[in-house]
Amino acid sequence: MKRAIVTGAAAGIGRVIAERAAAAGYQVGVLDLDAEGARAVADTLDGAIALTADVTDATSAEAAVERFGPPLDLLVNNAGIVVFGPLLEQTPEDFRRTVEVNLLGCFHMARAAALQMSEGGHIVSITSINGITPGPGTGAYPATKAAIAQLTRQLAIECGERRIRANAVSPGFIDAGMSEPIYADPEVRARRSAGVPLGRLGTAVDIANAVLFLDSEAGAYINGHELVVDGGVMHSLLDQLPRE
Ligand SMILES: NC(=O)c1ccc[n+]([C@@H]2O[C@H](COP(=O)([O-])OP(=O)(O)OC[C@H]3O[C@@H](n4cnc5c(N)ncnc54)[C@H](O)[C@@H]3O)[C@@H](O)[C@H]2O)c1
Repeated sequence: MKRAIVTGAAAGIGRVIAERAAAAGYQVGVLDLDAEGARAVADTLDGAIALTADVTDATSAEAAVERFGPPLDLLVNNAGIVVFGPLLEQTPEDFRRTVEVNLLGCFHMARAAALQMSEGGHIVSITSINGITPGPGTGAYPATKAAIAQLTRQLAIECGERRIRANAVSPGFIDAGMSEPIYADPEVRARRSAGVPLGRLGTAVDIANAVLFLDSEAGAYINGHELVVDGGVMHSLLDQLPRE
């Protein structure tokens, strides 16, 4: 049986990744800052273990990995936050907090996990298309997601000799978690859906499927890759601009 820790798994996309991994036969460590939420999710999954931890704190991250214990086959760095608003209106604290959860959190967890993965393993971090082309009004978020993609590539080249792979999954417009309030507005929902070549928003299941594909035998030689899962929206720029 494979064993996986999913961070930020009490809610949103992380919860669905944890559910799909458990359904695929993994024993899952449901890690979240929200202790009650993590326990509630773990209680619904066969053999799952709730892990309360703050990924911004190296000691807390290490303790959670230790509590889960070896072997650890897969870490999914999913915990993330966004502080909406223009960059110039972000406080230094908004910016620092976003960097700490999104980027430092991935580093703390990747470091703790890689040290535990003595027989090889895999680290999948959830980035965002905002890290490739920044969306306005998203503060420090795009910069952190671009940095996570680079951290992934560095992990891939440095950890390969220990048979640890590192990859990223970059979601597009996803109808879940932190974006739910945006898509609650039917007009925004219709406009955004129409802008996606596949004509729909993505789901948390689309993201979970990509993570499990990368971790499967079919993905065994993929290392240092950022897999964009966006229904093609990143390629639709020219289609968005009027011809006349
Ligand atoms: N929802 C989207 O549209 C979307 C799109 C692109 C990328 N993403 C990325 O997907 C990931 C999941 O996003 P979501 O929409 O499910 O968010 P969400 O807000 O629904 O869930 C995030 C989870 O992370 C946990 N968390 C926050 N800070 C933490 C910390 N310091 N330590 C441990 N856990 C912490 C929260 O308690 C929460 O359960 C994020 O990395 C996000 O950037 C989401």
